Amino acid sequence: MNGLHALRRPLGSTGLEVSPLGLGTVKLGRDQGVKYPNGFRIPDDREAADLLALARELGINLLDTAPAYGRSEERLGPLLRGQRQDWVIVSKTGEEFDGGQSRFDFSAAHTRLSVERSLRRLETDYIDLVLVHSDGNDLHVLQRTEVYETLERLKQEGLIRGFGFSGKTVDGGLLALQRGDCAMVTYNLGEQAEKAVIDHALAHHRGILVKKALASGHACLAEGQDPVRASFELVFGHPGVGAAIVGTINPQHLRHNVALAAEVLGG
Ligand SMILES: NC(=O)c1ccc[n+]([C@@H]2O[C@H](COP(=O)([O-])OP(=O)(O)OC[C@H]3O[C@@H](n4cnc5c(N)ncnc54)[C@H](OP(=O)(O)O)[C@@H]3O)[C@@H](O)[C@H]2O)c1
Repeated sequence: MNGLHALRRPLGSTGLEVSPLGLGTVKLGRDQGVKYPNGFRIPDDREAADLLALARELGINLLDTAPAYGRSEERLGPLLRGQRQDWVIVSKTGEEFDGGQSRFDFSAAHTRLSVERSLRRLETDYIDLVLVHSDGNDLHVLQRTEVYETLERLKQEGLIRGFGFSGKTVDGGLLALQRGDCAMVTYNLGEQAEKAVIDHALAHHRGILVKKALASGHACLAEGQDPVRASFELVFGHPGVGAAIVGTINPQHLRHNVALAAEVLGG
């Protein structure tokens, strides 16, 4: 099988080795307030377990989740029982999604509570990487709240292996990388404003995770050349990209994406 096993690479200087494609798990936990082009049904436990098994078989070792993704974390805990060592788990802090609405809390107390809750939900005693789930006011969050220093402390305590920032601005991404291990940026055929953050990360050995590589699925509606191939040529064409987190609950899409990533990366 043309998988990604041989294509794992370091994520900046985090010490983590990741597959170039990660699996985004919004759709395992949440179907409200999402911006995908088509409606969907949240997979049941059997389907979710099969999807994770397929991802693993295809060489994916990277999972992205968040407290704001509905039941994603609490489902992953039981689903990953007995295979914790096989996965690099990325979660987040700062955004809560309740009753169809987001609210944000970047205080020290909430950050600690959130990470401890993620540990319980994920049934683990460490999380590989925790990113700040920014509300878009990136500089304010980084300079005027306690979230980053609290994550730094949680790293020193060994509860998390690394920390970073999932933001929306270049200034935020650049500042986040001064103290943090990794930035998660939007980078796709229609949106490349945050490329400067990837350039900076490459020069300073920081990790980059790309979100919305397929523009949340909207890129897949384009006609002509396979839009997934064109998206991956862009994303993996930048040597600063550690991995692209692509969200899919469709096994055929997952296979297709892995095959294309392997091809684009010359595997
Ligand atoms: N602020 C943040 O930190 C933040 C924000 C957004 C996203 N993220 C993370 O990044 C992940 C990815 O972002 P995203 O889910 O918004 O966008 P994405 O990965 O760009 O796109 C996902 C969408 O593309 C579709 N898709 C995937 N492969 C396909 C294929 N081969 N052919 C056709 N359609 C395909 C999926 O539908 P199917 O399920 O039908 O395949 C899904 O609706 C999320 O799951 C999340 O983990 C983080």
